[in-house]
Amino acid sequence: MDIREELPTDTESIHAVHAMSFPTTTEANLVEALREAGHLSISLACCDQDLLVGHVAFSPVTVNETAVGLGLGPIAVLPQYRRRGIAEKLIRAGFEASNRLGHKFIVVLGDPSYYRRLGFKAASNWGLEDEYGGGSAFQAIELQDRAIPSSGGSVQYAREFSVAANDGAA
Ligand SMILES: CC(C)(COP(=O)(O)OP(=O)(O)OC[C@H]1O[C@@H](n2cnc3c(N)ncnc32)[C@H](O)[C@@H]1OP(=O)(O)O)[C@@H](O)C(=O)NCCC(=O)NCCS
Repeated sequence: MDIREELPTDTESIHAVHAMSFPTTTEANLVEALREAGHLSISLACCDQDLLVGHVAFSPVTVNETAVGLGLGPIAVLPQYRRRGIAEKLIRAGFEASNRLGHKFIVVLGDPSYYRRLGFKAASNWGLEDEYGGGSAFQAIELQDRAIPSSGGSVQYAREFSVAANDGAA
């Protein structure tokens, strides 16, 4: 298994991985919208030889309208490749890429029982709130000490997410 940045020739395979992993094409379309808007800050693929089997997207988020961190997602792994740690490898590779690019923290909306093992904690610990009412599913990890503003605040994802949310994305 090889984890690498997306290539221009990957776009159809990335669309297919999300379309096969979620009930609708909302997330697949979201990744394309982020790419077209220049909001795909990090886009990593996992490949089994020539087959693209997993993908994770990271896009910019703002806290109180200041651009400082990244949002993780969507992430998807083809059903027959799940439970082998591919998502974890993609996310950890995303942390390394985030560090290289100077991003200081990452937020995610997802299952705490999964993301906890990667070091995420409830974003409410920092007084952060998301715009989608994620509650305990809204989590954050600091890549540098005290990266999250101590004042906390409202986290806004790239605008393409609000279109997807109206479309029914998780
Ligand atoms: C969520 C998703 C990306 C996880 O992908 P994955 O590659 O299976 O994830 P991992 O292998 O890192 O971890 C998944 C589980 O496999 C377990 N696991 C990891 N390696 C394992 C191994 N070698 N043997 C057995 N289990 C293993 C993990 O402990 C984890 O267990 P859990 O069921 O308690 O959470 C994948 O299930 C998916 O695409 N789902 C549909 C889309 C989706 O819901 N995306 C997330 C919301 S954006």
